[in-house]
Amino acid sequence: MLNGKRVLLIIGGGIAAYKTPELVRLIRKAGGHVRVILTKAASEFVTPLTLASLTGEKVHEALFSLTDEIEMGHIELSRSADLLVVAPATADLMAKAAHGLANDLASTTLLATDKPVLMAPAMNVRMWLHPATQRNLATLRADGVSFVGPDEGDMACGEYGPGRMAEPAAILAAIEAHVARDTAPKPLAGKHVLITAGPTHEPIDPVRYIANRSSGKQGYALAEAAREAGARVTLVSGPGTLPAPIGIRTIRVETAREMDEAVEQALPADIAIFAAAVADWRVADESKEKRKKDGNAIPPLQLTENPDILARIARHATQRPRLVVGFAAETEKVLEHAQAKFARKGCDLLVANDVSPASGVMGGDRNRVHLVSPEGVESLPDMTKNDVATALIARFADALARRG
Ligand code: C5P
Repeated sequence: MLNGKRVLLIIGGGIAAYKTPELVRLIRKAGGHVRVILTKAASEFVTPLTLASLTGEKVHEALFSLTDEIEMGHIELSRSADLLVVAPATADLMAKAAHGLANDLASTTLLATDKPVLMAPAMNVRMWLHPATQRNLATLRADGVSFVGPDEGDMACGEYGPGRMAEPAAILAAIEAHVARDTAPKPLAGKHVLITAGPTHEPIDPVRYIANRSSGKQGYALAEAAREAGARVTLVSGPGTLPAPIGIRTIRVETAREMDEAVEQALPADIAIFAAAVADWRVADESKEKRKKDGNAIPPLQLTENPDILARIARHATQRPRLVVGFAAETEKVLEHAQAKFARKGCDLLVANDVSPASGVMGGDRNRVHLVSPEGVESLPDMTKNDVATALIARFADALARRG
C-alpha cells in the first residue's frame, strides 16, 4: 500500500502512454497521490484532460509556463514528490536523463530531482537493443535509477522482442517495492560500517603480480545491504571490475599493505567486516625493474607475510569496532578450519564458505555460508550473494544491538 506517498509520473511520448491512465488509477487505488508531467509528444497519445480527471490535479506540460511557475515551478514539482516514475521511458527521455540534458519540463525535472527515479522503458526492439540505449541504461543504473521492464512480446510496430512497457500492475508493484524499502526499519541508522572486499594484488615487479580469484561480489553486496539498513558505509576494495556502489564511500587499493592502511584511516567504525581475500604473502624482494629471463636460472620468489588486517583490528588497542566479523574461505573441512580460525583471529563472528572450484562460489552469484559465533554455528541455505548479504547484515545488526 502506498499510504499517501506522492508519485510524480512523467509520461514520455510513446504508444505505451495509452496505458498510463490505468497506471494512475492503480496508484490512486493503492493509496498513492499522483501528479503528472506530460511531454509534448506524449500529449499526442494521451490527453491532459484524461489525466487531470483521473488525478484530480492540473497536468504539467510546459517548462516556461507563467502560471505553473507561479503556482509550482519544476523544482518544486520534484521536491514535492517521494518518487519519480517515468512511464513510458522512451529512448529519447532515457538519453536525455543519461546525459543530463534539460530542454523541456520532463528532462529538467529529472535533472533537478534528488528523489529516487523508477523508469519503465518502452520502445521499438531495435531501439532498445541499440548500443546507445544500452549505454544509457548502464549509465542511468550507475546513477541509481531503477528499472521495471521492458517486457518481451509483440510490439505496436509489428516486431517481436524486448521493448514493450511493463504492465501497469508490474509498475505499481515496483513502486510499492520502492516504498517498502524506503519505509523499512533501518537497524543500522547512525552506524558506520567498514567493509573490505575483493582480492589484493601483490607486485612481483612493475608488470607482474600475485592475485587470487575473488571477485568482490559478496563484499560489495554486504556494503549495499548495510547501506539499505541505514548505515554509513566505507568499502575498502581490492582490484576488480565491479563499479563503486551508489552512496558508498569506496576506497580502491591494490596491495594488502594499502588495504591495511586504508582500513586504519577509516576507523572508528561500529562494525568492521573483513570479506576481502587478502593475500597471505607478498613478494619480499619486489623488483623495481621487470625481471628478465637470464639463461637457465629460474628466479626464486622470496615471500614474506602480509599484515593480518582482521587480526590486527580485532585486537586494536584504542579503536576496536564493537563488532568485528571475519570471513573464512575454505576448500575443504570448511567448518573445522573456520572454527579454528575463529578462535585464532579474535573476531566476534566468522562467516565460513566453501570456495572449492566445484562450489562455484568464487566469482559466482550464489553462496552458501555458515555463521560461526560463540553460541555455535548457523548454516544458511544456498542463496544469491545479495540475499546472503541481507541475511548476514540483519544478524550483524542484532549482534551489535545485543552488545549495547
Ligand atoms: O587467514 P585467512 O586469510 O584465511 O583469514 C581470512 C579472514 O582474515 C578474512 O576475513 C580476511 O579478510 C582476513 N584477512 C585479513 N588480512 C590478511 C589475511 C586475511 O584481513 N592478511
